[in-house]
Amino acid sequence: MLNELAKIRDDALARLEKVETESELNELNTAILGRNGALTAILRTMGKLLAEERAQLGQAANAAKQQLAAAFDERKTAIAERAEARRIEAETIDVTLPGVVNIPAGKLSPLTVVYREIRDALIGLGFTTFEGPEIEYDDYNFTKLNLPLDHPARDMQDTFYVNDKVLLRTHTSPCEARALMTLKPPFRLVIPGRVFRVDEPDASHSPVFMQMEGLVVDRNLTFADLKGTIDTFVKAVFGENVKSRLRPSYFPFTEPSAEVDISCTICGGVGCSSCKGTGWMEIMGCGITNPHEIENCGLDPHEWKAFAFGVGVDRVACLKYGINDIRLLYEGDARFLRQL
Ligand code: DAH
Repeated sequence: MLNELAKIRDDALARLEKVETESELNELNTAILGRNGALTAILRTMGKLLAEERAQLGQAANAAKQQLAAAFDERKTAIAERAEARRIEAETIDVTLPGVVNIPAGKLSPLTVVYREIRDALIGLGFTTFEGPEIEYDDYNFTKLNLPLDHPARDMQDTFYVNDKVLLRTHTSPCEARALMTLKPPFRLVIPGRVFRVDEPDASHSPVFMQMEGLVVDRNLTFADLKGTIDTFVKAVFGENVKSRLRPSYFPFTEPSAEVDISCTICGGVGCSSCKGTGWMEIMGCGITNPHEIENCGLDPHEWKAFAFGVGVDRVACLKYGINDIRLLYEGDARFLRQL
């Protein structure tokens, strides 16, 4: 009996060594110490023994039971500790590891780049930015700018009308009216934004494009101030070697009006196919703000003078980067942007 008891005990201890999980541990516990366990079975047979043997076996059985219980406890703790260690190991984050390095970086649209270059050059001259809504009143887009309802120049701008009073602005010039009506002069503004015209998209047309308006209001302004301002940002965008010139033109909102040319960015002014042999390329309109506009917006044209210009940011971007299809500027194709 004693031998059998020792065998059960040693056997249990050996199996315990191999136990890895809590459920295996419980199983073994039941198999040895449980109600129908091996050790319990031996104790049950004790009734048949002589008193002396019984005492001896009882003592040995109790010792074995205690020894086993302690060993089970110890194993249980070890298993729990190992599980905990494994959990912590799995959850560990090394915060010193470098991040995922290959996040592809985006690129700014050439429109953004060119706009910022112009803006920053103008901010250097004391300008601040101003913006207006894309859905605009006919009154601000046309009438206040000296284009009354019957003005023939209204036809030049194919307008998306929302209703007979509201439209998608065809240029950033309505912001001139908004600024003149709300700000206290003198001021100098750079006004960027999207504008809309009914146009079939092709290489040189887009129904939505980007303009940037400049507006300076002060007591004493001359055409020389306008020319100097334009020349400053032309050089900032295209480089010191590019020249600008003004050519007489007509806009209802300026008088006198001019068209701005820059020396051809392809041939440097000698004459090539891009500039049709003239050495110059047209980039924008400008002029001394028409006194009618100033008056329409509630200021005294005898006290306040203004000059303004309106640049097609698309056109400047196409010239600067040699882009021959304006639609590329609006498609957001990363392969195109990466080439710039
Ligand atoms: N608004 C004109 C256009 O969209 C551009 C322009 C020309 C703006 C002359 C001006 C200006 O402020 O003085 O074609």
